[in-house]
Amino acid sequence: MSLTELGDVLQRLPQPNDPNLLVGINTADDAGVYKLTDEIALIQTVDFFTPIVDDPYTYGQIAAANSLSDVYAMGGKPLTAMNIVGFHHKYFSNDVLVEILTGGFDKAKEAGAVIVGGHTIMDEELKYGLSVTGIVHPDKIVTNAGAKPGDKLVLTKPLGTGIISTALKSGKNLGDLMERAIKVMTTLNKTASEVMQEIGVNACTDITGFGLLGHGYEMAAGSRVGFKIWASRVPIFEEAIQLIKEGYVPGGTSNNRFYLSDKVLLPDSLDWERSTLLFDAQTSGGLLISVPNEKADRLIRELQRRNVETAVIIGEVVADHPGKIEVID
Ligand code: CO
Ligand code: CO
Ligand code: CO
Repeated sequence: MSLTELGDVLQRLPQPNDPNLLVGINTADDAGVYKLTDEIALIQTVDFFTPIVDDPYTYGQIAAANSLSDVYAMGGKPLTAMNIVGFHHKYFSNDVLVEILTGGFDKAKEAGAVIVGGHTIMDEELKYGLSVTGIVHPDKIVTNAGAKPGDKLVLTKPLGTGIISTALKSGKNLGDLMERAIKVMTTLNKTASEVMQEIGVNACTDITGFGLLGHGYEMAAGSRVGFKIWASRVPIFEEAIQLIKEGYVPGGTSNNRFYLSDKVLLPDSLDWERSTLLFDAQTSGGLLISVPNEKADRLIRELQRRNVETAVIIGEVVADHPGKIEVID
């Protein structure tokens, strides 16, 4: 579902009215947050999708890392998770399902979370993901609605995994590019989230299906500020430029460009391939962090010191054009 279609549906739903609901559906945040006590709030999120790689174990790892990411984007710690599976024995053996679930199990374990159960339905199209429950101190929730003018915007993974997995699906031989993309997609946002909590930041979201500009737009709109993004500084898989030229662009990425046309200001000088990457639908992408200017360098240094491989300042928050992103070439 596109960003604007989802927005339309959510807007028409009844609004819950519970004082303990700290983050609900109205700011399009990564997860819901519900206060249990003055010390503990519950974070809840769910995500699942169809395979994007051939190897079932790797698919399980990527899907789990992606689902856990929404808890990290809120600055939380995942505790428990449940498997969600769409599967049909007509197409796959039980061995395949065991591999997928083991990939998910291992990734959850790495996150310090335990898988407590799940649910499987018969489905012609394979699907897998997790419903994750985490915790956070109610005063330390990092929403997507707290970005302030003057903040710097930091991104923690390169863009292009949507393009790359589309090329893979079409049978393109990618050499070691696929391995590098898999490494990025299976990497948890755990360390990045812990570092941002230690430094103290104003807002965060993770980059997934709506791409950098889609999730950036949600954060700008939720925070009632504008974003400036310097296209040349945004980390990308360079090989994705050539893959875009060859036509490997996922439908979700094209949809993002279409639905964000009045929310993103693109310079005429920016070439099509570069702008396509900014819209690219990511799986298990990095965190987009809005950090006070005076803490930005410390955040980058600490991310690097703790082996977060990508940690780049890609833009800044402005008071102008609230709810819009200006891309600068
Ligand atoms: Co998210
Ligand atoms: Co999500
Ligand atoms: Co968040």
